[in-house]
Amino acid sequence: MGAPKSAAGNNNRAMSFYTKDKHLYCEKLRVKDIQARVAHSPFYLYSLAQVRENYEAYTSALAGIESMVCYAFKANNNLHILRQLAKWGSGGALVSGNELKLAKAAGFAARRTVFNGNGKTCDELRLAVDHGAMVNIDSEFDIENIDRAATSVKKPVNVLIRINPDLDPEVHPYVSTGIRDSKFGIRNEQVPWFLDRIRAAPLLNLVGVHCHLGSTIQDVQIFRDATFLMLQFVKTIRQEGFSLKYLNIGGGLGIDYERTNTLPRQADLIDRIRDLLTGDVTLIIEPGRSIVGNAGILVNQVLGVKANGAKHFIVVDGSMAELVRPSLYDAYHHIGFTEPVSGEVKTYEVVGPVCESTDFFGKGRQLATPHDGAGLAVHDAGAYGYAMSSNYNGRMRPPEYLVDGDRLTRIRRAEQFDEYVRLFDTT
Ligand code: LLP
Repeated sequence: MGAPKSAAGNNNRAMSFYTKDKHLYCEKLRVKDIQARVAHSPFYLYSLAQVRENYEAYTSALAGIESMVCYAFKANNNLHILRQLAKWGSGGALVSGNELKLAKAAGFAARRTVFNGNGKTCDELRLAVDHGAMVNIDSEFDIENIDRAATSVKKPVNVLIRINPDLDPEVHPYVSTGIRDSKFGIRNEQVPWFLDRIRAAPLLNLVGVHCHLGSTIQDVQIFRDATFLMLQFVKTIRQEGFSLKYLNIGGGLGIDYERTNTLPRQADLIDRIRDLLTGDVTLIIEPGRSIVGNAGILVNQVLGVKANGAKHFIVVDGSMAELVRPSLYDAYHHIGFTEPVSGEVKTYEVVGPVCESTDFFGKGRQLATPHDGAGLAVHDAGAYGYAMSSNYNGRMRPPEYLVDGDRLTRIRRAEQFDEYVRLFDTT
């Protein structure tokens, strides 16, 4: 890999993306050269080495702990990236029937997949049972549907109870999931009812408990609090005669979007909970963002620069349709040019062409005034980027490319207008 190693060695910045002679590189390739080859803009660009480094940061931190890393597909479900993760031994955290099918297609071992969700349909549950995935119980109606699915498929199913731990991860309310009023999981005090219900269902095999606190978490102490609390549940449920194997603490570790170099990394999370794990449970974690987030960028081209009132705008060809996180969560993504840009430095709003004022990638950014056609990268876009893209304003989803050393591979074609209009066929 051509990227220089982190001098400090203790930040979680994507070292596979780096700047040399004012050019942005992805591993051994210059992004500007990739732009010339791709002939499509915008596009997503990923570094395989970075995905691998992030995944292995978990597996090496977990050495000596009975554990399973179940990558959360929702962050990025590109089949090529999934295949790599399956090859490296990752499990999968899934949230839909189609993600179950993708897990199968990518080669994930069924017994290393967990099917989550507060609104699983009966069809999806039958698929999960048939496939042999573990299933999380989320509510009273969910357990009835899981039981029915197992009866209709005539197979036992390994289940976990998703318990809402009522811990506040102090993140944006839209990505907080483990507090008391959340739509996910069951209330603590309901556990005995669920145990009785499971006892009455011969095809439901209770193997563990699950919780997920939220996303973009910056303080790993909350993972310790959750692990401690959930281990109490493991103990009391075992005392009720169940032989639990798994403690699943979900995903949620944040990444260094703001480039502060102060955020905890994978090893910090694991080290914070290590001494609590006594060896009689297998730990499951479900990271998404911290595996793919800093391994991808959205590459755009500058269409032009304009001013209105007191504001200066850089208008690029990418938009909230390709990357909605800034518009939806007011999320910060680092922005930089892919090539030398020498105009006057000003305070800019970086915006796209979508007909809506919330269509922006960054506000109040100090950037050099770019020439038309300059390449502009929105960083840390590998998680919940393409995965949350849309056709808003009639835009076709962009292609995705993967760099492995000096090799560039297109791993998803751009959507074509012809394919899109065919969806309107009435026959
Ligand atoms: N497990 C469960 C049960 C989850 O609900 C999630 C994410 C994960 C694992 C993975 O969390 P991660 O490690 O990626 O934080 N669209 C939002 C994020 C929503 C996350 C929802 N659940 C964003 O762009 O920030």
